Amino acid sequence: MCGIVGYIGKKTNVDQVLIDGLKTLEYRGYDSAGIAILEDEVKIIKEVGKVANLEAIVKKENFHEASKGIAHTRWATHGHVDKVNAHPFKVGEVTLVHNGIIENFETLKKDLMSSGYEFKSSTDTEVVAALIDSLIKKHNDISKAICEAEDILIGSYALLIMVDRDIDSLYVVRKDSPLIIGVADDKNVVASDINVILKYTNKYILLDNYENAKLTKDKWTIFDKNGKEMNKKVLTIDMKSEDISKGVYEDYMLKEIEEEPIVLQDNIDVYLKDEETLLKNIPDLTKFKKIFIVACGSAMHAGLVGKHFLEEYADTEVVVEVASEFRYKKNFFSKNDLVILISQSGETADTIAALRLAKAQGVKTMAIVNAINSTIARDSDYVLYTYAKTEIAVATTKAYLLQVVTLLAIALNKGLTSKKLERSFVLEKLKEIKEIPAKINSLLSRMDEYNKVAEEIKDEEDIFFIGRKVDYSLAMEGSLKLKEISYIHSDTYQAGELKHGTISLIENGTKVFAIITDSSIASKTLSNMEEVKARGGKIILITTSELDDEYDFNYEKIVLPKTSEMLSVILAVIPLQLIAYRTAKMRGCNVDQPRNLAKSVTVE
Ligand code: F6R
Repeated sequence: MCGIVGYIGKKTNVDQVLIDGLKTLEYRGYDSAGIAILEDEVKIIKEVGKVANLEAIVKKENFHEASKGIAHTRWATHGHVDKVNAHPFKVGEVTLVHNGIIENFETLKKDLMSSGYEFKSSTDTEVVAALIDSLIKKHNDISKAICEAEDILIGSYALLIMVDRDIDSLYVVRKDSPLIIGVADDKNVVASDINVILKYTNKYILLDNYENAKLTKDKWTIFDKNGKEMNKKVLTIDMKSEDISKGVYEDYMLKEIEEEPIVLQDNIDVYLKDEETLLKNIPDLTKFKKIFIVACGSAMHAGLVGKHFLEEYADTEVVVEVASEFRYKKNFFSKNDLVILISQSGETADTIAALRLAKAQGVKTMAIVNAINSTIARDSDYVLYTYAKTEIAVATTKAYLLQVVTLLAIALNKGLTSKKLERSFVLEKLKEIKEIPAKINSLLSRMDEYNKVAEEIKDEEDIFFIGRKVDYSLAMEGSLKLKEISYIHSDTYQAGELKHGTISLIENGTKVFAIITDSSIASKTLSNMEEVKARGGKIILITTSELDDEYDFNYEKIVLPKTSEMLSVILAVIPLQLIAYRTAKMRGCNVDQPRNLAKSVTVE
């Protein structure tokens, strides 16, 4: 989604700072980009397509060293992808960039037009620029104008604002869209995520909703929603810019898949190292009788696996909901319910909305989040970080894995504290979990098998994924991973459902991935695979070595390393991720930035 970068500080090549920042934000997904730099006057350059296109034009401009500028990557919401709709916008004396959506922009636009403003673009952002310009004229005071604009605007926004009459300041405003202010002695750098800031400082400030900031080259001041100066804590992040480089890898996605054993170990050290970490680092959830797990996309798929863990290990009823639906449906909460929100970015607008809804209903909330100090992490009653480190590739891999493992830790913890599980059983599981990183390593080394499958499916148009119970959840994740990066359409079915309609699509050579890790339904899924085979379909099976020994499956198959049944669920996703990756590579796709997608989905 849209990305924002701003610089104010000692004189430097601001154009290069902004372009570098935009490149760091590229992974979020965008379709056009632009910068505004204050030299003698504000100079704006915008271009459609990649940041490299913008960079080529910026280079020709020969910018002088400057001390202030703002920049933006746009993921179109209002209006086509073109230069006119790209940010920054300058209206009157206000130049700004915006991430978010203004819901009342049409009414505001009419009012502003009747007082003489003219608009060139179809965006909501140009309306914000005009609104703030009109309020500055009204109050003759920038801070007052910003506070009043916050009262008027409905929706979400992170704004960086330059005002002609105050060349020494950069204004920052935020509500429900991510924005981080990096602070250093001789500069302040603002961006949509921490990765941009790391090159300049590891100290940062987070604005809460309706707070705003005035930055100068060596100072920052934060104001509350009434314009009153307030104290704000400066936070420190223990990360370096090298942590987000691609290193020797061709793509971030492969790097992140290969990091899975390492980050898994970090996650285990926090939650699953021994009984003490399991009990100390996860809050006591015994009192919660029913759990809602709410998330989007892969995070929701992780939630489905978590449901299986919680039901099996903690005898707890779990309802998994897609965040964008949860907030609009009728939910029947009672006082012993817990809502778990899962999110890699911690900034997904639909998940934030679900969190707000749960809180408004007085239900306790717990976040499983990767991005430290993100909105979902900060606003939930409890937070469990996944410790996957930064994930850049749009398709999640390592963060999904750690969401699943964190949910396993929650289930074991709850099973133990509520005495549903014997202590000896839990200790045995902790012992087995320690061996999972090595088993993932062994799966990573079997690339030939994934290449063979990728070769077979790379020219397909439609593929099916089937599984039952938890294997259906895995199938959903395998299907999503494949389609989002390779653009091959695939559908997922509960294996038993196929014969109720979809089996009519199976014909000679149709490829069907089947997943069997759960012994309780293995024979049933096997029957469904036979039905596919009888109609000429080609099964590719992912299963455990125990079940393969038992059934001696006569299909093309990938057999997982030996572990207990519940833990096979963690292993099964690795071949699915690598098959998707290899298939997309063979089709020449950009695996890190698939078309139309954004890493951090900050609009609803
Ligand atoms: C798919 C993928 C998405 C995200 C979803 C939620 O590979 O990455 O489906 O899982 O957009 O994002 P977060 O976890 O940031 O809330």
